[in-house]
Amino acid sequence: MSNALFRKKNINSILAEGSDNSHGGGLKRVLTVKDLTFFGIAAILGAGSFSSLGGAVFNGGPGVIVLFIITGIACAFTAFCYSDFASRIPVAGSAYTYAYASFGELFAWIIGWALIMEYSIGNIYVAYSWSDYFTSFMERMNVHIPAYLSTSYMEAKHGIESGSTNKDVIAAWNNAPVVNGLKMILDLPALIINFLITYLVYRGIKESRNFSNLMVILKLGVVFLIIVVGGYLVWHNGLTSNWLPQNDAGVKSFMPNGFSGVMAAVAGVFFAYIGFDAVSVLAEESKDPQRDLPKGMIYSLVICTVIYILLTLVLSGAVHYKNFEGVGDPLAFIFEPQNLNIGWMQLLVSICAVVAMTSVLLVFQMGQPRIWMSMSRDGLLPPVFQKIHSKFQTPSFATIVTGFVVGVPILFTDKTFVLDFTSIATLFAFVLVCGGVLLLPTKEKEPGKFHLPFIASRIIFPILIIGTIIIIQLFSKNYFAELFNLNGDTATVTFNVSSLIFWLSCIILSIVTLFKNWSLIPLLGLVTCLYLLTGMTAMNWAWFGGWLVIGLVVYFLYGYKKSKLA
Ligand code: ALA
Repeated sequence: MSNALFRKKNINSILAEGSDNSHGGGLKRVLTVKDLTFFGIAAILGAGSFSSLGGAVFNGGPGVIVLFIITGIACAFTAFCYSDFASRIPVAGSAYTYAYASFGELFAWIIGWALIMEYSIGNIYVAYSWSDYFTSFMERMNVHIPAYLSTSYMEAKHGIESGSTNKDVIAAWNNAPVVNGLKMILDLPALIINFLITYLVYRGIKESRNFSNLMVILKLGVVFLIIVVGGYLVWHNGLTSNWLPQNDAGVKSFMPNGFSGVMAAVAGVFFAYIGFDAVSVLAEESKDPQRDLPKGMIYSLVICTVIYILLTLVLSGAVHYKNFEGVGDPLAFIFEPQNLNIGWMQLLVSICAVVAMTSVLLVFQMGQPRIWMSMSRDGLLPPVFQKIHSKFQTPSFATIVTGFVVGVPILFTDKTFVLDFTSIATLFAFVLVCGGVLLLPTKEKEPGKFHLPFIASRIIFPILIIGTIIIIQLFSKNYFAELFNLNGDTATVTFNVSSLIFWLSCIILSIVTLFKNWSLIPLLGLVTCLYLLTGMTAMNWAWFGGWLVIGLVVYFLYGYKKSKLA
């Protein structure tokens, strides 16, 4: 049985299936490197910058910029790993397909299962954020949508239970009609946008591509304007002192809540980066996937990293970090009368946010069915998931199921929950992708194709780890000693336990690479992603663990028996 669980797909057979129409091929090859870069930006730049950035600055202050840089580096290493895989296996399926070739079936299934979190559950967060901006935009247009029709039930319930002062939450709870004792509270705009996006994706890639490119140009333009206008005003109004704000203890610091405050923002910051990997699921619609997919991923990642650093500088300069508490539309908020006071920017940002988030929804809603299509080809999901629409040439059944998987939880979840859930699952998938590249044999450089340079890690990696430990010990004498304290509150204990596991993993990896001499880039990708996982809470781990258990049950009941490799 254990051999069956780790049965691997041969790379050549994966390539053959990708070009074989009988296996559900036949998607149109229309996307160029420009389209792929645009898809990357379309997926990356959305609710993370327009919505969760506010909470990140509130937690970490201007110092959250450090986390953006660490996360950017982790994602860049991971993008190189994705690129290496994508240049070897240019078929749709993302990390799932890659894991099948390197780790074997069980891990591939686990990754595919985790990716449902990234693509579908992530889209729930984006749909909620879309609804927030859409509702406030309509309000500015004098169209009032009642709070009970634009707030999720759970958000209202949790808000009331925790004594929230947010006026929308209170209004939703107090004014909602009651049927059979149940308050009728739902986020209608989030449901409607999900329906419209599902319909668009169902209709076809070409229309979606044109629509998506147009939206990306628009959102890049407005983000540029926010950086220029906001940046100018921060400098002109003498607000640069906000980059060294005073914390509750009266100390002025770039990281007012310390590094733990910065790490508390990890789910929101990481969420902002999710999406560069979505490019890889478009392999079968790409004209030259081996050359263009890596370029599309890396270009979009670099562009967005620069944007995040600049946006964080503008945001934390324009307004004192503490004022971002509970702010769901931070980029519009900085232009409000009590802040930079530019009304037209406020309006423009609201419109742009709606556009930006629409493009994110579109890319993820296109990605999910394509992953399921791959899983179905392998026999791990029922054959109907690989059905291609005869006229629109899209994976029609899988697209409709995606619509339901995003739509139904909109009725039962809230923003914080889906944000944490998405980030932990995606990081987990990234860890497995980087690990997968470590296990693949090195390949010769081929002209016109991406080649991951091999840098020997045998000496460099252990030196890096030992050097980092020495530097931490020099600058933060109690850091390692405190990790062994397992008696504090749940958050501290979770952080300490996950950090201990992290450092132990680093030491084990250092020893193993002395013998194996792994490639440095994927090894650093693995370690940086593992580090980001140390910022996740106990609750995140519990939910994620539960989700994985359900996934394993589904696998043993269906995929294990029906797998093409069985
Ligand atoms: N990175 C994407 C966003 O921020 C998921 O919306």
